[in-house]
Amino acid sequence: MATRTNPPLTFLGIAGSLRRASYNRGLIRAAVEVAPAGTSVLPYDLADIPMFNADVETEGDPPAVADFKRAIAAADALVIATPEYNHCVPGVLKNAVDWASRPPRTAVLAGKPVAIMGASTGRGATARAQAHLRDGLAYTNGFVLPLPEVLVAIAGEKFDGDGNLTDRATLAEVRDLLISLAAWTRRLGQTRDEAIAS
Ligand SMILES: Cc1cc2nc3c(=O)[nH]c(=O)nc-3n(C[C@H](O)[C@H](O)[C@H](O)COP(=O)(O)O)c2cc1C
Repeated sequence: MATRTNPPLTFLGIAGSLRRASYNRGLIRAAVEVAPAGTSVLPYDLADIPMFNADVETEGDPPAVADFKRAIAAADALVIATPEYNHCVPGVLKNAVDWASRPPRTAVLAGKPVAIMGASTGRGATARAQAHLRDGLAYTNGFVLPLPEVLVAIAGEKFDGDGNLTDRATLAEVRDLLISLAAWTRRLGQTRDEAIAS
């Protein structure tokens, strides 16, 4: 009997931090390294995305926003690493999601599979930020992977001074997340068009 091979999947890796030695940027770099066979992670830098302004949007997306939307559209799924700022999603990431959520319902985020992870210096491990992000993405009609959760607490003990993830157990968690995201993306492949059309 012939075996069916799955087409390769590309995940866009988005970190909600602009900090050079960011732990969350480190999580995305780790995802690039440990991506399972048949998948790849392409990091995307949010540094050039301007603050959302509906007047600017009316005149047309700024080039950085248009580029971001194109990158999302071209990806099979997103993997987002969010820091936690005051128990919430950092403005850099929230702003990028807001741009990508437009126009409502037909936006590039509609029907897009998403996996969330996050690292913080605190014991809360971005649990609250991840919950906020999940809630916001529900309104974009994004399909957020329910489990597993990757919650990296006391990040200073798990990354080196350059923000590279050195903790083997966390690396394995990132890999497990990507394995689940691949299965989630393949499962949802048929439903994306329906989500956009509805
Ligand atoms: C404005 C601000 C608010 C923060 N609030 C929280 C918080 O609510 N919970 C938490 O665990 N860490 C908080 N932190 C600490 C972050 O976890 C820490 O700065 C982390 O390194 C940010 O992620 P990054 O390394 O990817 O930039 C806060 C940091 C900043 C700058």
